Amino acid sequence: MGSAGSPAQQGLTAAGRFAALQVADLEAVVTVERRSFANPWSVEELGWAVQEKSGLCMGLWVEEELIGYGIGQTEEGLFHLASLAIAPAWCQQGWGGRLLQELLSQARRRGCKGCRLEVRMGNRAALSLYRYWAFREEGRLAKFYTRPVEDGLVMYREL
Ligand SMILES: CC(C)(COP(=O)(O)OP(=O)(O)OC[C@H]1O[C@@H](n2cnc3c(N)ncnc32)[C@H](O)[C@@H]1OP(=O)(O)O)[C@@H](O)C(=O)NCCC(=O)NCCS
Repeated sequence: MGSAGSPAQQGLTAAGRFAALQVADLEAVVTVERRSFANPWSVEELGWAVQEKSGLCMGLWVEEELIGYGIGQTEEGLFHLASLAIAPAWCQQGWGGRLLQELLSQARRRGCKGCRLEVRMGNRAALSLYRYWAFREEGRLAKFYTRPVEDGLVMYREL
């Protein structure tokens, strides 16, 4: 993913549309979340992010379907990416990379100089995605995740 003509990019057959998430989109976000995570957040738990001024929350639509989202917060020049997912049927076609790039450019526009996130140690797809897009491991958080209990990796890249 990333270089022109990679298999993932050739798989981008439909045009995607990015937009800031609104409260009205949260039901669709939770639908994607439930398919993507063992411990999905609820609409109420996601509400803060789309309503806070510091929230940076983007949705990705293909036609009328929300196929992915990213949720985070910008604070003191740092973008903390709290959640990112692409609906399983749309994975490994380059959408995750495109969404990540969109989020990072929005953060840059807000004046952020870096992006930090946490990821499960065993999440191969996410680790490959973040490593590909130049995130580097900063540290390890013992038993950071529950259900199932797992260590987290802290990853960071400059913007
Ligand atoms: C992580 C996630 C967002 C990636 O989305 P995606 O649309 O599949 O990502 P892309 O197609 O842009 O893939 C980019 C690269 O990531 C890596 N990747 C993606 N899926 C992968 C998989 N299942 N196994 C290994 N590497 C994978 C590859 O390096 C890929 O490049 P390639 O397709 O050229 O091999 C998606 O798998 C997802 O939503 N997972 C569930 C939720 C989640 O774990 N979110 C991250 C929480 S920190």
